[in-house]
Amino acid sequence: MSNDNRISTERATNKARVLIFDTTLRDGEQCPGATMTFEEKLDVAHMLDKMGVDIIEAGFPIASNGDFEAVAEIARRSENAVIAGLARAISGDIARCGEAVRFARRPRIHTFVSTSPIHLAHQMRKTEEEVLEIITATVKQARNLVDDVEWSAMDATRTPIDYLCRAVEAAIRSGATTINLPDTVGYATPQEYGDMFRQIINRVPGAEKVIFSTHCHNDLGLAVANSLAGIEGGARQIECTINGIGERAGNAALEEIVMALKVRGDVMPYETRVEGPMLTRASRLVSAATSFPVQYNKAIVGKNAFAHESGIHQDGMLKNKETYEIMTPASVGVSKTSLVMGKHSGRAAFRDKLSEMGYELGENALQDAFTRFKELADRKKHVYDEDIEALVDEQIASAYDRIKVVSLTVIAGTMGPQTATLTLEVDERQVTKQAVGNGPVDAIFNAIKELVPNEAVLELYQVHAVTEGTDAQAEVSVRLAANGRSVTGRGADPDTLVASARAYVAALNKLMVKGLKGKSEPIAARLKP
Ligand code: KIV
Ligand code: ZN
Repeated sequence: MSNDNRISTERATNKARVLIFDTTLRDGEQCPGATMTFEEKLDVAHMLDKMGVDIIEAGFPIASNGDFEAVAEIARRSENAVIAGLARAISGDIARCGEAVRFARRPRIHTFVSTSPIHLAHQMRKTEEEVLEIITATVKQARNLVDDVEWSAMDATRTPIDYLCRAVEAAIRSGATTINLPDTVGYATPQEYGDMFRQIINRVPGAEKVIFSTHCHNDLGLAVANSLAGIEGGARQIECTINGIGERAGNAALEEIVMALKVRGDVMPYETRVEGPMLTRASRLVSAATSFPVQYNKAIVGKNAFAHESGIHQDGMLKNKETYEIMTPASVGVSKTSLVMGKHSGRAAFRDKLSEMGYELGENALQDAFTRFKELADRKKHVYDEDIEALVDEQIASAYDRIKVVSLTVIAGTMGPQTATLTLEVDERQVTKQAVGNGPVDAIFNAIKELVPNEAVLELYQVHAVTEGTDAQAEVSVRLAANGRSVTGRGADPDTLVASARAYVAALNKLMVKGLKGKSEPIAARLKP
């Protein structure tokens, strides 16, 4: 969407604009284990700039030379976003921050100081009056360096409202253009957080001249709800991070806020400039850069966010996607909904999956394949497309088979002898044999030879895993040669020995078709009694 379009959308929908302040590179990066390299920070900043984030907090310049260099380089390269750097309420911090962001087309200094009694008493060891003086001095210093200054009242939600009003007033008088009231410890409830903004905006002189901002931590899992409540209370900037990374339980997740405002614009008439279709890419980029995995069920960007496994849900999705999806996968950059095939999947979804994979089976064949798929899904955690392919291919190949594997029991291990008890259906008659061998596979093949005597020579026996994991399906190939011909049979099953029996029998069936074609003698007639 172009900028012009966006403006006209705003007019048409009459929605108030909410600025998105991304702090993935500062609050996100400062959480344990999420450190990014210089290049990774540049990549993330580039993505944020492209996707329509309004303000990028690029780092904490005083923290290290590396941080300073990253903020400066991001400032140089940014095309659209305001580039902010963080600074404590210390003169040296503010000066260093000013140096780093000055290369940006739109630089911002973000300075903060604690305001809550517990922080003042134990961390700062300062009185309320002393902190008010610090606010005045540091905001003025920042304002002398740049026009855009954000001031944050750290631990605002545990600060008595009267004192918070005085602190905010001091910051506004000193030239702050954005006032951020963080729920630093993730303690507030949505009602309380929204009310705090309402009170401050009503009571503080000059509040109408600045933009108020939310900054919520997720210690109680309320960060996104609190941020949205802050907007209801009058804030117009939300501080958040991709994938919700950040100190302790993290910050409000950018993708959740953006999509909540897009999807529920009917009750929250606010909009952001962020491009929804870029959210998934941004999530993957940050996850790769920080090595922080995204939880499977994470809203918007989790692997399962658009995956449906239950039969009832899959059935609904096939009839009308709106039955179980409140936004389209495309709206967040996911190519399509996935119907995950597992033990909860229904017949309709299975048929749909087969047709997507290019199989058109008749009713009976479909029922057979579905029964075998359910058996497989009961034994295997993930059923991949390749598993279904192996299962259906095997079924198609065996449709005209005269020999079928009915059951197999194998005794293997160090005690020996390895013994296979095998039941085959041969020309619709069940026969069972027990045989020993030099290893379980040899025992199985001996049992087959006993049940269906043949002169075929085993030319090849090969096993490979169809998919990954210890519960992966094994696909076995067996090549048999007889009368100058050689054929290959394949068998697939999570149990390698069952797959081996199936593969041998499949090869034998092919040999029968080729070698015995035209002969009327039933195989059963040649079975040993
Ligand atoms: O959580 C917090 O209070 C912060 C401030 C530095 C804004 O991250
Ligand atoms: Zn924070």
